[in-house]
Amino acid sequence: MSGQVVEEATLRRLFEAARWSPSSANQQPWRFAYAQARTPAFDRFFDLLVEGNRPWCARAGALLALATRNITSRGEPARTAQFDAGAAWMALALQGSRLGLVVHAMAGFDHDRARVALDLPDDLDLCCMIAVGHPGSLDDLPERFRPRELPSARSPQAAFTAEGSFSSFRTPPAL
Ligand SMILES: Cc1cc2nc3c(=O)[nH]c(=O)nc-3n(C[C@H](O)[C@H](O)[C@H](O)COP(=O)(O)O)c2cc1C
Repeated sequence: MSGQVVEEATLRRLFEAARWSPSSANQQPWRFAYAQARTPAFDRFFDLLVEGNRPWCARAGALLALATRNITSRGEPARTAQFDAGAAWMALALQGSRLGLVVHAMAGFDHDRARVALDLPDDLDLCCMIAVGHPGSLDDLPERFRPRELPSARSPQAAFTAEGSFSSFRTPPAL
């Protein structure tokens, strides 16, 4: 990423995409906290990242944290909240990609410290943090990160689809 700030209006376009995501009973359990680059809040978000995420996030234009409300409006456990938030994240990521931005989710942050630093209410659970930025030059990345800037592979469909039941996914007992 280039280090250029992602403007509030651009963030609003990303959140608008997330807003239209489907969710169970239309509960819309996703909650985003965000910090634009070059603000005190950004430093607070950045400080939560694990070492491995810091070098490439230093030039992010904004950092986001995504949490879900873990109870429904009826006070019941929100069983699909993480699934719904996953849909919202994907919509946001696709919108960002369409706008030519880098959008990258991260589970690599200190979840316990984040609860305090981000003042998370008890009925919210953190899912991930998200780096958003304008594309930068490969030269700005520390050398060890450069090989990762290539398309990733995926397992073939046979590894995750089966007709009729899930039995073929049963893990063989350890010998
Ligand atoms: C929930 C989630 C958490 C992730 N956490 C990290 C992370 O902490 N650090 C990182 O470098 N990449 C992280 N990633 C990126 C994945 O490693 C990456 O999406 C995956 O390896 C596939 O690569 P691709 O997105 O380039 O196709 C995360 C992705 C998701 C969806």
